[in-house]
Amino acid sequence: MTSPDEHRKVQSSEAIGDPASAMWDHHHTVNASAWPSNEVVRLVMKYYPDGGNGRHAVDVGCGTGANAWMLSEHGFKVNAFDISEVAIKTAYEQIALKRDVDVFFQVADIRSLAPEDADSDLVLDATTLCCLTTEEERARVVDMIYSMLVSGGRFFSIMPSVFSARDPFVRAVEGMDMPCTFWTKKDIERIYGRRFKIENIGESIYDARCGRAHLLIADMVKE
Ligand SMILES: C[S@@+](CC[C@H](N)C(=O)[O-])C[C@H]1O[C@@H](n2cnc3c(N)ncnc32)[C@H](O)[C@@H]1O
Repeated sequence: MTSPDEHRKVQSSEAIGDPASAMWDHHHTVNASAWPSNEVVRLVMKYYPDGGNGRHAVDVGCGTGANAWMLSEHGFKVNAFDISEVAIKTAYEQIALKRDVDVFFQVADIRSLAPEDADSDLVLDATTLCCLTTEEERARVVDMIYSMLVSGGRFFSIMPSVFSARDPFVRAVEGMDMPCTFWTKKDIERIYGRRFKIENIGESIYDARCGRAHLLIADMVKE
């Protein structure tokens, strides 16, 4: 990132090509989410009721880009990345090329990003950090997200709780064994509270095609 008015180009990742990206490519070949998440819309309307006004947002693990599109429609300049080339190709073709939006889509692995200059006002994680499987990976990624944010910048993170459907049957319906960790409020306090001031932990139920998830929604600020 060179100036706040330019889009960040996150480093491309050497880890792309590992089994996680192939799995997510498969997922995004059969599921293209076209609608932003209710939870993300609620948080954005709560904290930015008058719009993003050119603030800089980063959507980590953006999938096919629906949340990034909503942020851009609301007035943010958005950088959005995902490990899946299939997801980014869909996002680029369906959003960047067809709609008049300010989103820069890029393929990248969040585990390989280095700490950044602090120039983002908002980082959004809509069920991506829950794909990280080790405590060490999560800690490194949380430090990296912290480094991206300006002081007073916000971090919204949504993840499935331990009360979600974790039955192997659900995974069989999805056709793969997706890496996913299921969180408690204590996990949020331990993993995020080390860096961020946690302002609220909300809850909601997500009715997915293959089962229900109980979501935790952590709403945080960099002090
Ligand atoms: C459950 S999906 C959520 C997608 C999107 N945020 C949404 O709300 O529709 C998790 C996303 O994280 C991406 N992902 C998983 N591991 C990742 C990693 N290490 N780096 C970047 N993206 C990753 C997947 O490709 C997938 O798009």
